[in-house]
Amino acid sequence: PERYAVMGNPIAHSQSPRIHALFARQTGEPVTYERILVPISGFAAAVTEFEASGGRGLNITVPFKLQAWAEVDRRTARAERASAVNTIVITAAGRLGDNTDGTGLVRDLCCNHGVRVQARRILILGAGGAVHGVLPALLAETPTELVIANRTRARADAIATSLADLGCVTACGLPELAGEHFDVIINGTSAELHGELPALPKGLKIGGTTVYDLVYGKAPTAFCSWALEQGAARALDGLGMLVEQAAESFLLWRGIRPQTAPVIQALRG
Ligand code: ATR
Repeated sequence: PERYAVMGNPIAHSQSPRIHALFARQTGEPVTYERILVPISGFAAAVTEFEASGGRGLNITVPFKLQAWAEVDRRTARAERASAVNTIVITAAGRLGDNTDGTGLVRDLCCNHGVRVQARRILILGAGGAVHGVLPALLAETPTELVIANRTRARADAIATSLADLGCVTACGLPELAGEHFDVIINGTSAELHGELPALPKGLKIGGTTVYDLVYGKAPTAFCSWALEQGAARALDGLGMLVEQAAESFLLWRGIRPQTAPVIQALRG
């Protein structure tokens, strides 16, 4: 079998090995997929070692996606614009870096859940690496307007400016959301990991909105629960995105796109 892995820190709770094992079984592809805990200052060495041992491909997760972007020889256009790499293809010709997170989000949101982004007003909360990574794919769906709102406004401004050529993308701070209404709200903050909710103003109108949380958990995320209490029409978590981005990586590595629905179902179970 050919060797694949996910690198991150922490990595113990990564679902990627389970997802790729299910993909391998489904497609009959001869692959193994393991988790590798990489020391914070040891990313470059870990990739070199994996490559030297015959490894064929990597997924990269927190906090190494930016470093991965720098460690590859070539990048796909979407990885270039995302400023982050979550998938590396290793061949004799070198390392190709891609980013499948944005496609994963769009496939889950639009294909699996039937949520329309095109010609809609979209709000994305947060302005870290996770948000930057998915924005090019969201903008490619041609929303009427995509607003990036962040606690620290300057970070949202910087991303909006850097992606301005991809569509109508604007930035603001959280208090400025008072009085606004969006068709879809995507939570890309890491507030959940700190047991918090983003401080959204009371005047933000949630009624009828679809919310999507980039994170997921066994129970509904704090953000999804909050949104439903506020009258959101639907609240979706990021499990489907995780499986979709994995399928896109598998496609890059093996040339076959696995079916995602049974895998999402297995993970929900
Ligand atoms: P990641 O790579 O996961 O995106 P990050 O770059 O640290 O991580 O970004 C985390 C994002 O979550 C940031 O937008 C952060 O806001 P700031 O830029 O103001 O720090 C946002 N965030 C984290 N905790 C938050 C909270 N309690 N309320 C609102 N936003 C929060």
